[in-house]
Order: sequence, then C-alpha cells, then structure tokens
Amino acid sequence: MSLKKIFQVAPSRVLQGSIRVPGDKSISHRSIIMGAIAEGTTHIDGFLEGEDSLATLEAFRKMGVEISEPVNGSLNIQGVGLHGLQVPVQPLDMGNSGTAMRLLCGLLAAQNFPSVLVGDESLSSRPMRRVTDPLRLMGAKIELEDGGTAPIRISPSKLTGINYDMPVASAQVKSCLLLAGLYAEGATTVTEPAICRNHTELMLQGFGYPIELAANKVTIRDGGMLKACAIDIPADISSAAFFLVGACIAPGSDLILKHVGINPTRVGVINILRAMGANIEYLKQYNVGGEAVADIQVRYAPLHGIDIPVDQVPLAIDEFPALFIAAACAAGTTTLSGAEELRVKESDRIQAMADGLMTLGVEHEVKPDGIIITGSTIGGGVIDSKGDHRIAMAFTIAALAAEREITILDCNNVATSFPGFAELVQSCGIDLKVVD
Ligand code: S3P
Repeated sequence: MSLKKIFQVAPSRVLQGSIRVPGDKSISHRSIIMGAIAEGTTHIDGFLEGEDSLATLEAFRKMGVEISEPVNGSLNIQGVGLHGLQVPVQPLDMGNSGTAMRLLCGLLAAQNFPSVLVGDESLSSRPMRRVTDPLRLMGAKIELEDGGTAPIRISPSKLTGINYDMPVASAQVKSCLLLAGLYAEGATTVTEPAICRNHTELMLQGFGYPIELAANKVTIRDGGMLKACAIDIPADISSAAFFLVGACIAPGSDLILKHVGINPTRVGVINILRAMGANIEYLKQYNVGGEAVADIQVRYAPLHGIDIPVDQVPLAIDEFPALFIAAACAAGTTTLSGAEELRVKESDRIQAMADGLMTLGVEHEVKPDGIIITGSTIGGGVIDSKGDHRIAMAFTIAALAAEREITILDCNNVATSFPGFAELVQSCGIDLKVVD
C-alpha cells in the first residue's frame, strides 16, 4: 500500500442514487468491546470493516477472544465474560483510532494484567490525560509520555467508583469511565456538560447491564454481567454526511441513503443543514436494538449561512469538515464557535479545512474555537488532507461545486472509516480518480 494515496476529483455536477454507506464506527467499536466481555456468543451485522474498528477487533483477538472473520459486515464473537480476557503479549496497536484507544484504556485499567496501547503518528499526538486523569482518580495505574500522549502503559490495579464531572463533552471519556465502572467497586457516575453520543449506554442496556440515566448523568455499578445478544449496526451518519452535503450543493441532486443511524445524539449535521435550508426527509423511521434508524432522502436546495447553535456542536462533532463545504457553498456567512475540540481530532480540523478552503479561494476567518466562512465560488487546486480521512472526503465532495480539478493528497486514511468511499462516490456521479 502506498503511503500517499491521491484523489484527483474533476468538477462534477450532480449526486444521484440509492446507497447504503458502511456501518457506524462508534457502534462497531462498542459491539466488539461488549461482545468480547459478554457471556455467550454475540452476532453482529453491519459491522464497519474499516481500519479503526478492525484495530479494536484485533486487540481483542490478542487478548484471547475468538472472533470470526467479518464477512460483509457479519461476524460472531465468543464472549469470555468480564474476567476472561488474557494478557496481551505485545502492545495493542490502535492505529489511527482515538475511540479504540480511549475506550480500551478504561477497560484495561481494570484488568488484572498489564497492557500497553500504541497508535500511529496522529494518534500518538492526541491528548490522553482526559481519560487517564479520571481513571487515576479511580485508582488506575497508568503512565503516559511527558506530553500526555500515547503510548499508554497500564499496570493492574483495583478500581473504585467516582463521581466525575467531565470538563469536555466527550463520549469517548464517558464511555471509557463506564467501561472501567463495570469493574470499579461501588458506583461510577459521569456527568456531561452537554449531550454527547450515547451508544455505550444504549448498548450496555442491550447487553442487559443495568445503568441509571438522568438528564446529563449516567451511573454504573460493578457486580453485573453482560449477556450476549444480536446487534444490527446502522449505516454511519458520519459517512452519510458527505453525501448529504454533496446533494445539498449540487443542483439537480436527489439521493437516498439507506438504513442510516439517526440517534438524536448524532443528528447535528441534519439539524444544521436543515437550518441552512436543506431539503432532507426521513422516508422510513424505525428502531434497531435501541438505535433510531431511517432511510434518508436528500434533494438539492440552495443553502444559506447561519450561526451554528453551540448545543449542536457535540451532536455534529465529526461532521464539521463536510459542513464547512456546505458553508462554502451557502449564500452569506456561516459562523462556528465553541468547537475547539476540532483542533484535537485526527488532525487540527479547523486549520486543515481552512488551509484547503484557502486553496479553493473560499473566504474565511479562523478563530481559536471555530471559523467564519462566507459562501464563495469554489476554485480548485492541490489540498493536503493531513492524513485525516474526513478532510479528504470533505474536499472530494467539494468537487460538486468546483470550477477546476481538486487534487487531495494523503488519502490513505479514508480506509479507517469508509472502505469503498471512492467507488461509492464514483457510482453517484463524482468524477474521482485514485492515484496510488
Ligand atoms: C466518538 C466520540 C467523539 C467522536 C469520535 C467518536 C465515540 O469523540 O469525535 O469520532 O465513538 O465515542 P469525543 O468523545 O472525543 O468527542
């Protein structure tokens, strides 16, 4: 595999079709983790066979869990129970995945064996104290590098439940602590400053593990067990987001996205696009294993700029690269604030997007916690994705409004969340050439 895959995207005019994007990444990670520590065999459909969730799968195999090879998103996990994981003989490589590293950190801090978590260059520069600080309060023995980054070295210890007010609205931190809380003596309570994704809570309930939920609080106690179950993972709204925005900015577009997860804690992208004037409809809504799902129809409609409500930020946190492209194509000005978290994702997404928007000639002003974007003519040029999958995919869909070719560098990591992205966008009308 080449280290620097390039996307060459010619100006494209319309997005059409009826497609299903791959499975939800957040739910895929959690399905492996909980299936592994459950009693019995868990069957999963719709699993994301992307590098991030496969890193989680491999980590559990290295801890002695038997997991069948995924076939078209289906697999079985022979759960070993809460206390059946085995010591991994080598460091566990989480690749590019912050979710894998932070969630496993919580689970592993509570085991009676030592472990080491490592990641790629991007992951090794991301902040980990947000999970290790509260875990240490629970009694965990964990060492980081001086900068508060991975490798994470974990020694066995006995945990005790805590009451933790999260300083940032982070589902990864919340989930890390809930997984540690399965083992910690007494009650572990996590309070979130703003609503963020609740897949861990829903899935724990799906596995029959009792939790207590209040408005912005969740409590878990030790002493229970997870019972194996069947999980049908919906398509990832974070991957669907590129198509939603693509159809919104290309006149004549009409697209159906099938079986997409529309959990209320994830639909910020739809709320924001609708506030900008988008024509997005749920054709069919249903519920799968506690998760809301819909077929979504999106048709072109002219967008206008808005001030993005701050409460929507955690609900759309992964969709801002795509939303910045929507803002670049909207009439008037779009303002984002309260989104400093974007600076510590797979790349500094505010700066990486601003650099690309500059290349395309889009008027914008960078702020420490956001950006102001004024709708402009989209030009073309060479853009560095900084190895960030969502930056690469966002600029791919910008071709639907571009005057000239857009070349995107360093696109390998698209495979972390969206295997088959290139083929799928081609099938819907984007003129994309992949150069290895
Ligand atoms: C995720 C939570 C979010 C999100 C990430 C996936 C999860 O991160 O950005 O892609 O699965 O819990 P934060 O919890 O850091 O906001």
